[in-house]
Amino acid sequence: MSIRLSDGTEIPIEMHKVRIVQKTRLAPARERLKAIEEAGYNTFLLRSRDLFLDMLTDSGTNAMSDNQQAAMMQSDDAYAGSESFYRLLDSVREIFGYEYLLPVHQGRAAEHLLAKTFVKPGDVIPMNYHFTTTKAHFNLAGGKVLELYGPEALNTQSSHPFKGNMDLDRLREAITQAGPSNVSFVRMEATTNLIGGQPFSMENLRQVKALVEPLGIFLVVDGSLISENAYFIRQREAGYENTSIRDIIREMMSIADLCYLSGRKSCSVRGGLIATNRKDLHDAIRPWLPVYEGFFTYGGMSSKEIEAMAVGIREMTDLEVAGSSADAVKYFVGLLLQKGVPVVTPAGGLACHVDAMRFIDHVPQSEYPAGALAAAFFIASGARGMERGSVSMDRDEEGRDVPSDLELLRLAVPRRVYTMSHFQYAADRLQWLYNHRRLIGGLEFYEEPPVLRFFAGRMKTKGDWGTALTEAFEEDFGTGC
Ligand SMILES: Cc1ncc(COP(=O)(O)O)c(C=O)c1O
Repeated sequence: MSIRLSDGTEIPIEMHKVRIVQKTRLAPARERLKAIEEAGYNTFLLRSRDLFLDMLTDSGTNAMSDNQQAAMMQSDDAYAGSESFYRLLDSVREIFGYEYLLPVHQGRAAEHLLAKTFVKPGDVIPMNYHFTTTKAHFNLAGGKVLELYGPEALNTQSSHPFKGNMDLDRLREAITQAGPSNVSFVRMEATTNLIGGQPFSMENLRQVKALVEPLGIFLVVDGSLISENAYFIRQREAGYENTSIRDIIREMMSIADLCYLSGRKSCSVRGGLIATNRKDLHDAIRPWLPVYEGFFTYGGMSSKEIEAMAVGIREMTDLEVAGSSADAVKYFVGLLLQKGVPVVTPAGGLACHVDAMRFIDHVPQSEYPAGALAAAFFIASGARGMERGSVSMDRDEEGRDVPSDLELLRLAVPRRVYTMSHFQYAADRLQWLYNHRRLIGGLEFYEEPPVLRFFAGRMKTKGDWGTALTEAFEEDFGTGC
């Protein structure tokens, strides 16, 4: 939730108190340089002890509530028939209105099961935008991901409220071209992670359903960030201003045929699930659950996490919880806009996204500007963000680099973890970096795995710009922090 101060400024206000804290350390810039060099200029390979702010992701890094922690104490560890599972099932039925539930260990496990069950070689899977793990699983099953976003989606300086909408004409054309029987399903990602956490509208979801249903194609929602998408619908879509997050989520679920999610985001727990009212879909996936994940009543999750998820699903419908990340992102984006740093607008869910192609427009896409900016920002601040650009795209079948639509440095805002002074610090160091942007150069791979290379690939700088940047930082701030 945001609150207006008497001077008219709006700030995110925390509707909780902090009772447990975890110590962090701000290492000097020299140490940060050494750490990023050892990590192959890949922020995934940094060690936690070297970080001041961990803005890599909001996945599994949110603060849990006291009620989630308490629920973990009453977990039932039975291999089969655990009461914890039935408590989760009750939550899913109450919040989503879905009868059938398949628990999985995290979001990509759900994608794996969907790919295994529904994607056949030569199929296409239309969606508003891909996510890395989604694309990897659907491609491995022989399918082709089609991204059918609207004209505003890739405009980083837009004010369009629903850049996550599907373009209906493109969808119609893609289905006609492939033939409905070659469409595995249509997937709508609630706040498109890779293009700035941008939501879709309820109207768009309804229109997509109306288009695909008569053709016998089912509609899947990736609900990993469902409470944020619901929050934006409430804020931005006419007619929903007074609708509760709970009712908005319920309405979204009544339109979708199936929802899968990573519980690590909106639900603030490490786990995942697939839920539906369609018995045929559920029955098709179900046999594979014990093969790849675990028995039907735990699916690879610990019983403690299942209990925390049962509570997390209910809590994400609380207006303050649903908006906790979105409001902080809005504040962070506002600070950066004031300082002239190029960021994606409007502010989305999950993270503040810095537009690397505008920030360091002298670094060509072939030299991974978003990866370079992520490394440079770590040197300048001790804060770790994530590259969301061409490093996050795997090579094509011919071994060629695939340039990403956007080159973004994603600075994730885990729910209820960081405070305003953290955002002010990060914004200040980002402004410093922007003023010294000409010092930043490109990167090249020297170790590159074939799939999801962004996780484990190692790079080096083109020219020793890491040292030059560190020296400039020390000139301004000294050799301390
Ligand atoms: C939209 C979306 N879908 C799927 C996933 C994959 O989930 P997980 O990381 O739990 O495997 C993520 C993870 O960030 C995501 O953001």
